[in-house]
Amino acid sequence: MNMVVIEAENNISSLRTKLLVNYVFTDEVSTLSLSDITNDFDPIIREIVKSKEFTAKEGSMSVIHNTPGSSIKRVLLLGMGDKKSLEPEKTRNLTGKVVNKSKELAADELVIIPFKGIDNEHLSAIVEGIKLSNYSFTNYKKDEDSTDLNQVRILTGKDLTAIQNIIDSASILSDAVIFTRDISNLPPNDCSPKILANFSEKLSANPKIKVRVIRKEEMETYGFGGILAVGRGSSSTPNLIVIEYLGSMKNDKRIVVVGKAVTFDTGGISIKPSDKMEEMKYDKCGGCNVIGIMKAISDLDLKTNVIGIIPAVENMPSGNSYRPGDIIKMYNSKTVEVLNTDAEGRIILGDALAFAVKTFAPQSIIDMATLTGAAIIALGSNVAALMGNNRELVTKILEYSKQTGEKIWELPLFDDYKEQLKSSNADIKNIGGRGGGAITAAAFLSYFVDDIPWVHLDIAGTAWNQEGTKEKTYNPKGATGFGIRTIVKFIASQNAS
Ligand code: BES
Ligand code: MN
Ligand code: ZN
Repeated sequence: MNMVVIEAENNISSLRTKLLVNYVFTDEVSTLSLSDITNDFDPIIREIVKSKEFTAKEGSMSVIHNTPGSSIKRVLLLGMGDKKSLEPEKTRNLTGKVVNKSKELAADELVIIPFKGIDNEHLSAIVEGIKLSNYSFTNYKKDEDSTDLNQVRILTGKDLTAIQNIIDSASILSDAVIFTRDISNLPPNDCSPKILANFSEKLSANPKIKVRVIRKEEMETYGFGGILAVGRGSSSTPNLIVIEYLGSMKNDKRIVVVGKAVTFDTGGISIKPSDKMEEMKYDKCGGCNVIGIMKAISDLDLKTNVIGIIPAVENMPSGNSYRPGDIIKMYNSKTVEVLNTDAEGRIILGDALAFAVKTFAPQSIIDMATLTGAAIIALGSNVAALMGNNRELVTKILEYSKQTGEKIWELPLFDDYKEQLKSSNADIKNIGGRGGGAITAAAFLSYFVDDIPWVHLDIAGTAWNQEGTKEKTYNPKGATGFGIRTIVKFIASQNAS
């Protein structure tokens, strides 16, 4: 994994670089000049602006080469569109274009001239755009002959340390997303529930983090009937991973983050069709996101208490598998009639949520899961579905999602949907009929959170990119880490100090 270093820079008089990138608005293109830094490019800039070769239209780019041996080898003009419609997501996305261009130009470093008066949010968006778009999953491939981007400097006239602090926070957050993508992208033969536990345990290098792994035997003692049932068909035994971060001595505000980690979802006895089944290695993305969130908040040293809970299982068909028709007893003693073994995510989450409620009495619970194909049918592949039981919490998560560009849309969770899950043989059943599949899945989860403020994110559509879906420049093929940045921003806003 290649890691690009990002630094604030204010030495403009003797700047040397292979690529100087200038973010330009349409409103400012007519007076565009680099004379503060160099006079080498201005005649050509005037020419291409006058001839309308470069108009700063959103996403447009022009590369201008200097004479050989010059200290600034090339300039890349990046069109930002008009200044009124500027938003962090645009900056993040267009910065991704710059990184891709730098690879085409074989530049291993570059210098960015951001727009005048840039605020912290846009500065962070530049950092995220660089780091997240520079990522690709290459663990299993021989090095290809491409130039890695190693260093980016951001030119700023203002207080260098203050700017560097903003850059560092955004870097830490982006690095946690990248770390998560690397785990999420692992193939199922190299990512069992045990391996997820190993990754989690490494986080306890930070003294504020404690990791507890509840293994199969202990689960039997405590009655985690849901996780045990789903995990029974696999020779890799299930784990319930509990990562506790103590960032504040005030222990009254605890946030719990739960993530579904099905390391591979075959569907079990209700087996899935073989077409695209390989994508079900991404059914662990919710859980991997939780590992990434815990890494981010501990690296950022946030002053909050957060508990990450990851039920990790593999859903396999075998002579030991749980079956349609089975009635299982969950951690909170509710009984569930299994009508489809492919609706396994809600079963393991039910146990994990009930455990969270009972053990930690949290202020709020957020869960993330690649839970239903229905969420993709409803909202497509670039928007996650949100359902919850608490207006204030829902509103906050939606608000932070606007800042991060991680698009989230709320679906309703009326009581009627809970009715759809009533079973004649047990307390509830694990599927709710044809309609509203993402919602009935959430309604199932609501049976396990009691009255604790809770939000559920169905990230089935957004957790990974198939080849060819390139809606966002900073989300390459494979796992995206979608949701991490939004939840970390929310947690940071709850700083207790
Ligand atoms: N992991 C899947 C959901 C999924 C499907 C995520 C496709 C991403 C892409 C989940 O475990 C599942 O199989 N859900 C079923 C539920 C159904 C049996 C009620 C589904 O969505 O088809
Ligand atoms: Mn399934
Ligand atoms: Zn699944």
